Amino acid sequence: MEAWYLEESAAGQRRPKVTVSLGELQRHGVLYWKLDADKYENDPELQKIRKERNYSWMDIITIQKDTLPDYEEKLRSFFREHIHMDEEIRYVLDGSGYFDVRDKDDKWIRIAMVKGDMITLPAGIYHRFSLDENNYMKVMRLFVKEPVWTPYYRPADEMEARKNYVRFLNQAA
Ligand code: LAC
Ligand code: NI
Repeated sequence: MEAWYLEESAAGQRRPKVTVSLGELQRHGVLYWKLDADKYENDPELQKIRKERNYSWMDIITIQKDTLPDYEEKLRSFFREHIHMDEEIRYVLDGSGYFDVRDKDDKWIRIAMVKGDMITLPAGIYHRFSLDENNYMKVMRLFVKEPVWTPYYRPADEMEARKNYVRFLNQAA
């Protein structure tokens, strides 16, 4: 995993990458683990995380043109900035891609995820997802209880999950 600030301005793009540490991500409520993706089917480390954080539900999807129904449309909606009412938990089993999250000052942090990277985005954080040029990710999706994938596109500032998250950020600051 590697994370850095996405520079959107022309001047910003010419500057060297500003990387973002795990600690900085943690202060935004983003949690990260590195696991051995080759043993996901029987991995005590993964089981421990799932038990501790009540990630009882899981499935595996392959985000790739020929394996994901409505591929183009799904990718478009994944990349639209949104929040969820619950955590978004993803474990990359193969391939790679980007999770972008907004920092406390509303700047984009790009989190480049590769095989073995597992991440939790807190409820209420604005984010989006895209594949990278490899156009392939096999990913485990986890959830506390029954999954609700509903994205609430920005602006969603009046949602309870968003308000709680903003409160969390202010306390952490
Ligand atoms: C999701 C990711 C792609 O909502 O943000 O599934
Ligand atoms: Ni999402």
